[in-house]
Amino acid sequence: MDTTTARQRMELLYDEIAAHDRAYYELDAPMIADADYDALFRELQALEAAYPESRAADSPTRRVGGRVLEAFAQVVHSVPMLSIQTQTDAGASGAASFDARVRKELEFAGDAPAMEYVAELKFDGLAVSLRYEEGVLAQGATRGDGAIGEDVTQNLKTVRDIPLCLSGKSGKIPPLLEVRGEVYMRRDDLARYNEEARARGEKPLVNPRNGAAGSIRQLDPRIAGRRPLRFFAYGIGAAAGWDLPSTHAGLLAALADFGFPVCEHRAVVQGAQALAEFHERMGNLRSQLPFDIDGVVYKVNSLEYQRRLGFRTREPRWAVAHKYPPEEARTKVEAIDAQVGRTGAITPVARLTPVFVGGVTVTNATLHNEDEARRKDVRVGDTVIVRRAGDVIPEIARVFLEAENAPRNLPFELPRTCPECGSRVVREEGGAIVRCSGGLVCPAQVKGSLLHFAGRRAMDIEGLGDKLVEQLVDAGMVKTPADLYALTLPQLAALERMGEKSAENLLAAIEKSKASSLARFIFALGLRNVGESTARDLARHFGKLDALKAANMATLMQAPDVGPVIAESILDFFAEAHNREVIDRLVAAGVHWQESAGRMADASQNPPGVFSGKTFVITGTLPSLKRDEAKALIEAADGKVSGSVSKRTDYVLAGGEAGSKLAKALELGITVLDEAALNAMLEQQGDA
Ligand code: IVH
Repeated sequence: MDTTTARQRMELLYDEIAAHDRAYYELDAPMIADADYDALFRELQALEAAYPESRAADSPTRRVGGRVLEAFAQVVHSVPMLSIQTQTDAGASGAASFDARVRKELEFAGDAPAMEYVAELKFDGLAVSLRYEEGVLAQGATRGDGAIGEDVTQNLKTVRDIPLCLSGKSGKIPPLLEVRGEVYMRRDDLARYNEEARARGEKPLVNPRNGAAGSIRQLDPRIAGRRPLRFFAYGIGAAAGWDLPSTHAGLLAALADFGFPVCEHRAVVQGAQALAEFHERMGNLRSQLPFDIDGVVYKVNSLEYQRRLGFRTREPRWAVAHKYPPEEARTKVEAIDAQVGRTGAITPVARLTPVFVGGVTVTNATLHNEDEARRKDVRVGDTVIVRRAGDVIPEIARVFLEAENAPRNLPFELPRTCPECGSRVVREEGGAIVRCSGGLVCPAQVKGSLLHFAGRRAMDIEGLGDKLVEQLVDAGMVKTPADLYALTLPQLAALERMGEKSAENLLAAIEKSKASSLARFIFALGLRNVGESTARDLARHFGKLDALKAANMATLMQAPDVGPVIAESILDFFAEAHNREVIDRLVAAGVHWQESAGRMADASQNPPGVFSGKTFVITGTLPSLKRDEAKALIEAADGKVSGSVSKRTDYVLAGGEAGSKLAKALELGITVLDEAALNAMLEQQGDA
């Protein structure tokens, strides 16, 4: 390649990488697979190495991606937040070359003992820096370009894993400490959140990484407060007045003592071989971890050696990240089908050319609803990237536009009639959800609601899977959940592929399911917009099924997290005579649970609450509760709420921006709770 061609290619790469950086870091909407981005980046690095005189002063290889969003205040990182040198598919040779480089740079002799490292996971979330002044969280910032980040303090204060104050377990609290780590989302939390977001008619989050990054970079902290964000600490920035441990491992232990979650999957190891083993071990564990990782990180353990190794422009010389192959793959959309769910909602599902991704062969990907299918503009025949992470349902991450997909088929449209029963299809307000109006005449809805009823998190009827539900409904033996409890052994044993033994097992499982809890039962009924956590809240709040049935709009909306949409669904459900009849038949068949007085019941009839005799002071902005709501919860558990902190105060409930009251509480040694801790204590009282 001559210099002119090289320079042209570099210009092109600058533009392309800049566009991808913007999409990834600023818009939280990546356009290409990570591995493809890395390939572009590496190509640019190689060109720059060969033609150093053509390297632009503002080349992306000189800085960390992600400029600052205008709307947040800027934070100058006194200790820059750097990137890590990253290699994909590095395996054993990657660990060996890192080890060799470290030893060479430290001028170790060939026969010097093995180098000690800490091996960690590379979390796939958003890097943040948390500044604690006198032990109190004073500021939280994103990495930004590494030198200047965004002030996202309010959002970070909503993350329950992030302590508002350092705990003093290990002795002295440093006057200044910046803790660095990753905000992330667990896959199961994301799946649950998305299920409920869709039920509310909101746009679901694309993946855990985007969920985490997108929530923290929202101007309204209530948004972050509603999302199940978590945090792992993995390092520090500035620190003052603190006797730094001598190793990185010691540092992590100290951070854990200060109250930070530090991921348990870490190891202190000697030499390259052990690093490579860690890489392999975690690679095998990856799909079973509850959160996404994109690789492992090796760090020199001795902080003295770290200092001697120092930094390059973008990254420290004492750390390296080895990425795993992506849990993303390219494939083709062969068809898009309309699938009818238990509430009649019709979901477009893409049938894919089978592709191996994230450890399994994927053949289907959900498109969630018509709007999302349109937004992603997935069409039959398109080449797409599918993404699978852990047990999250595979999704289409993006469509390849341009030449590869031209000419394309027409955009996808859902049918006007239900593909299962031919009933009319209605579009619900907001338009996102398209629903079959067939109700009980639609076999797909009947089957779906039975499967939901029997599900592990609902009535937990073991062995009642989709094949069996299909048979029972098609044979006309079961039309509603109540019919399950009337099934007999001869009836079941007569079913095709069903032996006497399995029929007995099923009956035993049905019998066992009769002992339930109110929360499970409410969830099992499958009320629209009532997911597992709402069902739990309702059970705790109302205590009795009759109280829930009798509730009106106003009383329903007093329950935590119940707004007009959920309240309406509950009212609609109980207004339906058929639903009331099914419940009566279930109860008559022996389905039962323990009832309680509920949170909002008359206190005089209750046993003493968990906060009986305790005085609280509330200060600062809580992530999701309004102050009145927090007060009501405390009082419902027989606690008192007072305005000022004194020796007689038992607990201070502190949220973001807590000031002098929190300081006073710390001074007096009063227990400080955050909203999560309060909820945890209330659970002991209200478990339904
Ligand atoms: S240490 C000076 N440790 O990787 C080194 N970073 O390229 C500072 N990351 O977005 C980072 N897991 O947030 C470190 N165990 C880990 C990490 C980790 C994920 C992220 C980090 C940043 C990127 C750095």
